[in-house]
Amino acid sequence: MTRMLVTGGAGFIGSNFVHHTVTRRPEFEVCVLDALTYAGHRDNLKAVAGDIRFVEGDICDAALVDRLVAEADVVVHLAAESHVDNSLRDPEPFVRSNITGTYVLLEAVRRHERRLHHISTDEVFGDLPLDTDEKFTEASPYNPSSPYSATKASSDLLVRAWVRSFGVAATLSNCANNYGPYQHAEKFIPRQVTNVLTGRPPKLYGTGRNVREWTHVEDHNEAVHLILEKGGIGETYLIGSGCEVSNKAIVEMILELMGKPVDRYEKVLDRPGHDLRYANDSTKLRTRLGWEPRHRGFRSGLAATIDWYRENTWWWGPRKDGIEKAYDARGG
Ligand code: NAD
Ligand code: DAU
Repeated sequence: MTRMLVTGGAGFIGSNFVHHTVTRRPEFEVCVLDALTYAGHRDNLKAVAGDIRFVEGDICDAALVDRLVAEADVVVHLAAESHVDNSLRDPEPFVRSNITGTYVLLEAVRRHERRLHHISTDEVFGDLPLDTDEKFTEASPYNPSSPYSATKASSDLLVRAWVRSFGVAATLSNCANNYGPYQHAEKFIPRQVTNVLTGRPPKLYGTGRNVREWTHVEDHNEAVHLILEKGGIGETYLIGSGCEVSNKAIVEMILELMGKPVDRYEKVLDRPGHDLRYANDSTKLRTRLGWEPRHRGFRSGLAATIDWYRENTWWWGPRKDGIEKAYDARGG
């Protein structure tokens, strides 16, 4: 058995990664380290609770991290503050968890000579112009726009430096927007779906022309396993489905799939510094490691995600009013 430590395993991508690992990769013995911030929930791991070890704790707690890293063979690092809008309200937890937390983890990985995979975002590269075919590549310069992406960029640079200077055996991946079950209702797709389910209109920032590349969380997590198995140490891999959709088109698709008139949404205050477009060239991951996304139809993936939220109101329902109150304070 390979002992795997998953930081942030009670969040959206992390809990899906743990489900994926337990059901499809039985050679791993999983331990989750998660601080259970507002974004992490034990409920996300209910179905696999008997198959994993769960430790509630902070990645900035050096003694705890040292002990857990010593007990692992491989570390998959997802723990982070992840929401751009929150980083615009209060950047401090982002600096702490995303930068200091990654530093603490890197030092433990260095001391115990463990394999690390660092999960990151394409937001570290800034944004791309609308209406072009340009894509980010592994060689794109770092140019983050928000406090969130600046702290993720810092964490990537720390990992790269620890590889080069200390020989840490790490890989990195950068992906654009994931979607699927267990995504917090503060994020775009779950917010709009749960708005419709609670009788609220979907809320579109600015013109809604901004484009995101949507990758199903299962495809993202399969890529991470491939990188762990076959990735080159010190290498970065961009993960991207190639499925680019504007925010306006998604809101209209959600309304249509949920049987509502497609113009029943509200335009609200734009996000300051709002990145225009994300798109990743994932040729390296596809050609060198053989990754292919299985969820090719965004519309069917979105329909399945809507069904998941419809069937799991117990999961998001109790948090919905609080999330919307926070959005009211930002202007919708
Ligand atoms: P999330 O907010 O749903 O989950 C983050 C998890 O980390 C939560 O369980 C939280 O409790 C935990 N956490 C936060 N700070 C912690 C700390 N100091 N110590 C221990 N645990 C802590 O985020 P997500 O959307 O699942 O993102 C996971 C990772 O993937 C992040 O690193 C994010 O930057 C990256 N990422 C996300 C996306 C996306 O579309 N969601 C895309 C690319 C990369
Ligand atoms: O690209 C990867 C990134 O994708 C990850 O690193 C982040 O962790 C993840 O949150 C996501 O960042 P975005 O800022 O792209 O995601 P968000 O869900 O917040 O917003 C998606 C788009 O929808 C963005 O253009 C803003 C817009 N939006 C968002 C909300 C919450 C709206 O129009 N209305 C909304 O209510």
